[in-house]
Amino acid sequence: MIRSPLMTVMTDAVMKASRSLKRDFGEVENLQVSRKGPGDFVSAADKKAESILRDALEKARPGYGFVMEESGIVEGTDTSHRWHIDPLDGTTNFLHGLPHFAISVGLERDGQMVAGIIYDPAKDELFIAEKGKGAFLNNRRIRVAARSAMEDAVVGCGLPHIGKGDHALFLREAASVMAHAGGSRRWGAAALDLAYVACGRLDIFWERGLNSWDIAAGMVILREAGGFYSDADGGSDPIAKGTIACGNETLHRELLKLLKKAKA
Ligand code: IPD
Ligand code: CA
Repeated sequence: MIRSPLMTVMTDAVMKASRSLKRDFGEVENLQVSRKGPGDFVSAADKKAESILRDALEKARPGYGFVMEESGIVEGTDTSHRWHIDPLDGTTNFLHGLPHFAISVGLERDGQMVAGIIYDPAKDELFIAEKGKGAFLNNRRIRVAARSAMEDAVVGCGLPHIGKGDHALFLREAASVMAHAGGSRRWGAAALDLAYVACGRLDIFWERGLNSWDIAAGMVILREAGGFYSDADGGSDPIAKGTIACGNETLHRELLKLLKKAKA
């Protein structure tokens, strides 16, 4: 696979930040047993990774704007382009020494997501896609799974937790989906959940209460892998609604029906 100049810029930035995250992940294990716990250390690791990404992307593409999980929105002089950056998706996993977290960077051009990269440092898995050029995992082309029966499907979801989300709605949705699905998983890193649907490890995924940096890159990767997505109520703009439902064409449609049932 030939990497475009844009994808080279994105990959270099992500790899640089991942070296810092990886080093810090090695420390987190030791901190589990300390009285203070690893909270402050992880939040510093998160900020460090974000600043590495920002510096690298700013240098390579001066003027582009930023939407960042840690530092918020930075308007650029080039109003057509914005990076959506999650320097550490799966923070709770990272904090608990669970090796399932990622860096996610999406590029928006004139209101449309056109490039995405998600890197899982613990497994050395790099998911990338650019509009019209296909989706890849470590240079190998990926596609969504072809399964069409809900009873064969493995479903990913996000779980609300203390202080976040509509717990009652989630429980109704989970009951509705679980009654038909072959199996359910909650991995704890939304960017990777989307990447996993894109490469057929998960058949469908839904979550509410997300931000643009969680899903911007995954949306491009999914679309380029032949996947379908909408917001969790079937609307066309997951970022505006902060919710997503996805899968192949058939299972995405089935998932929306089950989620709708749970709302009625
Ligand atoms: C979180 C993860 C998690 C999802 C949450 C996100 P963070 O992102 O993606 O899987 O359930 O909604 O906020 O905080 O680890 O970057
Ligand atoms: Ca996130």
